Amino acid sequence: MLRDMRPNRILVTAGPTREAIDPVRFLSNRSSGKMGFALAAAAVAAGQRVILVSGPVSLAAPPGARLLQVESAVEMRSVVLREAVRADVIIMAAAVADYQPLAPAAQKIKKGAATMVLRLKKTPDILAELGRRKPPGQFLVGFAAETTDLLRHARQKLISKNVDLLIANRVGRKGTGFEADDNEVVLLDRDGGVQRLPRMTKKRLARRLIARILARIQAHST
Ligand code: CTP
Repeated sequence: MLRDMRPNRILVTAGPTREAIDPVRFLSNRSSGKMGFALAAAAVAAGQRVILVSGPVSLAAPPGARLLQVESAVEMRSVVLREAVRADVIIMAAAVADYQPLAPAAQKIKKGAATMVLRLKKTPDILAELGRRKPPGQFLVGFAAETTDLLRHARQKLISKNVDLLIANRVGRKGTGFEADDNEVVLLDRDGGVQRLPRMTKKRLARRLIARILARIQAHST
């Protein structure tokens, strides 16, 4: 039987977010954006229509993908929710900051006392919101960055955020994960499947993940 070869709309997020403390300072994390950009490039190479929503990174947009640049978690949320309505697949590879300053200062904060306290509030959990709103047929992919109890934490995230595939990686080790060119991940499926992949470059891993996701949605739509 002939397969439906319509390209899927794939929404990928990448990079860190920046949460303003004042006009010149922010809170952020070590995400380089390499994994998300590699996923976007692999999806374009597989003939898909790709929208890449990225926090501030120093990477060139993959040719063929539409790049939408954002800064904060709140901005990323509004762009992602707007674009999510038309997406067949959403891959949340961004390292969204979990907290933002409660009240960013309008002017540069001047140096004063020897210690200071920065009050923070939670950012919106974009992936959890996507999981709650997921329309039938949409395939949602999340990441889990963990330093301990990888599988237990990852399984909890898979369920609590209602994702179809969770890519769990151990962070905080040299050579893989944040800022690195390589990654070593475990894939967790909704139906309980667990697959440990060997360490490989993010580009190679991205190709494998995209092929796997496309095979899954193809299997579900036939
Ligand atoms: N994520 C998100 N919005 C947030 C925080 C995380 O969409 N405010 C997404 C990430 O893009 C990733 C997944 O949720 O796909 C898991 O991110 P991770 O940082 O591992 O987990 P958290 O939910 O933030 O929990 P914790 O930091 O406590 O491990």
